[in-house]
Amino acid sequence: MTGRGESNLTAEATGFRSRMVGGLRKEDAGRKERLSGWVHRRRDLGGLLFVDLRDRSGLVQISFGPEWTEAESLSLAHRLGSEDVVVVEGEVELRPNDARNPELPSGDVELRVHRLELLNSARTPQIPVYRGPDEDLPAEELRLRHRHLDLRRRELQENLRLRHELILETRNYFGNLGFLEIETPILTKTTPEGARDYLVPSRVHPGEFFALPQSPQIYKQILMTAGYDRYLQIARCFRDEDLRADRQPEFTQIDLEAAFVEPDDIFRWIEGLMAELGKVAQIQAAPPFRRLTHAEAMDRFGSDRPDLRWSLEISDWSDAFGTADSRILQSAVETGGRIRGFLIRGGGELSRKEVEALESVARAAGAPGLLWAKRTGEGGSGPLSRWLGEEEWEASGARSGDLLLVAAGSDRVTSPALSAVRGAVIEAMALPQERSDAWLWVLDFPLFEEHEGRIHPGHHPFVLPHPEDLSRLNDDPLSVRSLAYDLVYNGSELGSGSIRIHDAGMQRAIFRALGMGDQEIARKFGFLLEALESGAPPHGGIALGVDRLVKDFLNAASLRDVIAFPKTTAARALFEGAPSTVGSEELRELHIELRAAPVGVRTP
Ligand code: AMO
Repeated sequence: MTGRGESNLTAEATGFRSRMVGGLRKEDAGRKERLSGWVHRRRDLGGLLFVDLRDRSGLVQISFGPEWTEAESLSLAHRLGSEDVVVVEGEVELRPNDARNPELPSGDVELRVHRLELLNSARTPQIPVYRGPDEDLPAEELRLRHRHLDLRRRELQENLRLRHELILETRNYFGNLGFLEIETPILTKTTPEGARDYLVPSRVHPGEFFALPQSPQIYKQILMTAGYDRYLQIARCFRDEDLRADRQPEFTQIDLEAAFVEPDDIFRWIEGLMAELGKVAQIQAAPPFRRLTHAEAMDRFGSDRPDLRWSLEISDWSDAFGTADSRILQSAVETGGRIRGFLIRGGGELSRKEVEALESVARAAGAPGLLWAKRTGEGGSGPLSRWLGEEEWEASGARSGDLLLVAAGSDRVTSPALSAVRGAVIEAMALPQERSDAWLWVLDFPLFEEHEGRIHPGHHPFVLPHPEDLSRLNDDPLSVRSLAYDLVYNGSELGSGSIRIHDAGMQRAIFRALGMGDQEIARKFGFLLEALESGAPPHGGIALGVDRLVKDFLNAASLRDVIAFPKTTAARALFEGAPSTVGSEELRELHIELRAAPVGVRTP
């Protein structure tokens, strides 16, 4: 893919070069050029020497030979090593037909070098930058340790270029809609987004700490109260949380907020943005996107971020199977649960071992088990089949050759299990994708969640309760929906937002419902309440994860492939070696005393 940045790049001359290497074509034959770059690969044929010269724009072959290269340059060329930095002058020549390289955009030509200058020699690279067609990448830990070399890889360069282009497009898009980009502080006060804060000790205020922002959430709301009614920021966020494949401790958001808006306004803007970004990244994003309420998504897919590239849905067989002669099935329904599962057309072809693997997936996701039955011509097989008479089979919709997978119990337990089983079935049956790009809005998330008997915000404490549910706020808080929404792309949560509370009284009531006392509220959020009391307009917004967006658009294996200097899953930076211990003098200045001797920095 050649982006706009790329074409400017190849055209631009500097003191060291007349152009960049990747853009040379057969039309350039006969031109004199001066090129600079790295020695990617060299082939020494005795008299002749071929080097692939690399810069950010790509590769071009340069050749050295006694007929066209000055003697001193020729001798220097024979001593070149991988990753040496050179500048060469010469003439572009068409390659003979049988020497053309159709794999390389510049493969019709080569530069015959008259003069070579070595700008800097390189020690033997710790990981190879040139890789033959069948060579695997070095282990990731090694690549992260030598990131400066890994970043020379074409894939990473293209990933970072796409990232740049998506961010540029985003800024232009929102700029055209009248959004202002406003920077909010990095040294700040805690903003609750559900993770731990990274703290920064204050030297001048002993015992006091700044928090790095988990998000600009509170500042963007304050900007709304201050009248900056459309705010945008490409914002860095920091969260000390348990890392998973789709999380980094430091990540970037496309963060926006607007006053006097409803969810539909936010959806329209974001759908328009995705359509524009889709053009840049060559993926389909045609508004309007599908919408499901949180309750529907959980009911039909068992997940609040279902991957709708496949339409496979959960069926509810509580009525059909609830009266079967089975204690498991009956008691699930009697205790307020449901009997739900999947009807897999043709699933009878899965072996017992494969079905048992699905059962293990359900258990790993917290369900006590997964019942299954295959319908055959003369009845069925599998543990569930003994409770299924003709009536139950009919109600299930199964035909001969189909498979039923069933989880019985409370939705809280069965939904995550069925969602995991859904993914595993898609894989086991190799079900074809029905669409390559599946966009979804999930609406009306629950306002609160319960963990260990305590109420927590479903997202953050600033989300507006659904107006229809306000009367249940005190008596049945867990049933209250909110005006929070997520943007889901191919099963990945790309963004999350909501309409916010703009009434100070309501905000206080929510803090109290979360178990905070008045003093704690004043200490932690007094400044926000003061702003809300000063004439705050109705407002709402959203934040999209840039790293996830780029990763998902590229279908990259890891967030680390779209971040220049990522952390490992153990939250370490291997290249520069952070975090690291600090000297006792520095600690004393910060008024910090360590309780235990620090564990030395692990040498990566
Ligand atoms: P939330 O916490 O859902 O919302 O974050 C928004 C989006 O940011 C991305 N994201 C992450 N990406 C990489 N690593 C992480 N550790 C990580 N955590 C989150 C996800 C997520 O959807 N202030 C609210 C937004 C709002 O209400 O406007 C917020 O930060 O893609």
